[in-house]
Amino acid sequence: MDKTKRSGRYATTVPEAFYQTTPIYYVNDQPHLGTAYTTVVADAFARWHRTVGDEVFFLTGTDEHGLKIARAAEERGRSPQDWVDEASSWFVDAWSKLEISNDDFIRTTEARHTTAVQQFMQAIYDNGYIYKGEWAGWYCVPCEAYYDEADLLPGNSCPIHERPVEWIVEENYFFALSRFTDRLLSWYEDNPGVVLPVSRRNEALGFINQGLKDISVTRTAFDWGIPVPWDSDHVVYVWYDALINYATAVGYGTDEATFAHLWPSVHHLVGKDILRFHAVWWPAMCMAAGIAPPQQIVAHGWLLVGGEKMSKSRANQIIPTELADDIGIEALRYHLLRDVTLGHDGDFTYEGLVARYNADLANNLGNLLQRVATVVGSKCAGVGPAPHSPEATPLAAVAVEVVDEVRRAWERAAPQDALEATWRLVHEMNAALEEAEPWKMESGPAVEAVLGDALEVLRLVAILASPAMPEMASEIFRRIGESGRPDAPGRAAIVDGQLGWGHYQAGNLVTKGEPLFPRRRIEPSGS
Ligand code: MSP
Repeated sequence: MDKTKRSGRYATTVPEAFYQTTPIYYVNDQPHLGTAYTTVVADAFARWHRTVGDEVFFLTGTDEHGLKIARAAEERGRSPQDWVDEASSWFVDAWSKLEISNDDFIRTTEARHTTAVQQFMQAIYDNGYIYKGEWAGWYCVPCEAYYDEADLLPGNSCPIHERPVEWIVEENYFFALSRFTDRLLSWYEDNPGVVLPVSRRNEALGFINQGLKDISVTRTAFDWGIPVPWDSDHVVYVWYDALINYATAVGYGTDEATFAHLWPSVHHLVGKDILRFHAVWWPAMCMAAGIAPPQQIVAHGWLLVGGEKMSKSRANQIIPTELADDIGIEALRYHLLRDVTLGHDGDFTYEGLVARYNADLANNLGNLLQRVATVVGSKCAGVGPAPHSPEATPLAAVAVEVVDEVRRAWERAAPQDALEATWRLVHEMNAALEEAEPWKMESGPAVEAVLGDALEVLRLVAILASPAMPEMASEIFRRIGESGRPDAPGRAAIVDGQLGWGHYQAGNLVTKGEPLFPRRRIEPSGS
């Protein structure tokens, strides 16, 4: 906690710990491809950082309080607790199926969270940033947020949900957000990479420069929430409650040693619709409570279907687990990471998914693996030969450039560029094979060196692609005879890692199996 005091200006340190979060999902709705997108991207960041040797803690979870959830339970004739117990399990199941490697799953109805929220609120209250007042305004229940009249669509409708907002008058406690304008601006100035991509940083600065209003942070109209510690007639506003989950999960209020170790090395991944909460409210809340604000906030765009955001009210949701059953979990993960430019909206189409699958996975990577295994079988008795030395093949220089670009791409929160660069290596290798035609050569040193290069490229590609496709990458490792997993912790570390050219172990047994990515026709199976 003293990290904030070190510079007095909330400068963040660069620790080895890497704490990755997703937003916590509302349990009024099934997981859909939009929420799966967020979770898969966060998972890929967590996996990449484990592979480079960071000490990763990866958190996801569910947001279970507030009016929206209380109403969802009521509509089904269920008690809120009973309802959230069921609905949160949908997320646990979906994320497990999509190979999400979270270390913890937080539910805001857990006792540890009540303890943390009450302590956090009390700290802000004791520090003099919470006061009592009256509030009247236009409230959108699906957003769980107030809107200025000027921001509404005609007919007093929410700009995100396009449905009427409600006029709500309440006596509440307020958080003095307006008092944090200068501190937030200087925090942004001191930490240029704190919000990525840059377009989202500018958007966040725009929110602050427009002028910050105090926010109402408690509710009295319903009781499905965490009681305010100094006034039990009030429950904590759901967004205030939800944001604190990031502190709860690493021990705020319950395990100070863990908290001191992992905070503020936190990297939030959020959708653009909740940027304001994370890039303005949350850092100000941290400052008010006396802890350092987060190290980084990465904001992505929306996954659209036919140009519209996927949502329950538009009934245009795609169920990610059904899609994964159809095309393969890792092909879906790869497509989401490769074809959406992080920060921008992406339009999802089944045709786009299949086209990417066929081009990159079936034709390029799958073909390379299959060819190499076949020719090593026929020309080298199934024993993997050594690659050329780095000086003897132009592929080594390409590999160095690719690895460098992959590292930089993850740093600037651009998984699409990391995968594009990785596939450059696959393309170059396929082109080199077309040129050398080892299948037409006689057995001997010349054919061995070409195949050794191809095995080395497959080894590197398996490591670099593992954040997107952990099991397929492992299968590639198995088939080329490498031991362990490509995503073993530290495998891609800069010091003592294995991303340099030439680590392929000559003498490995190479096995040919069924194609990893059989070519697909455009129709979903069963249609
Ligand atoms: N409960 C809040 C978050 C609290 S975090 C302290 C919430 N939940 S949500 O379930 O509505 O949305 C969670 C995340 O899913 C958001 O980042 C949102 O942008 C993302 N997505 C929901 N639909 C999406 C798409 N169609 N496309 C991409 N992301 C989408 O907000």
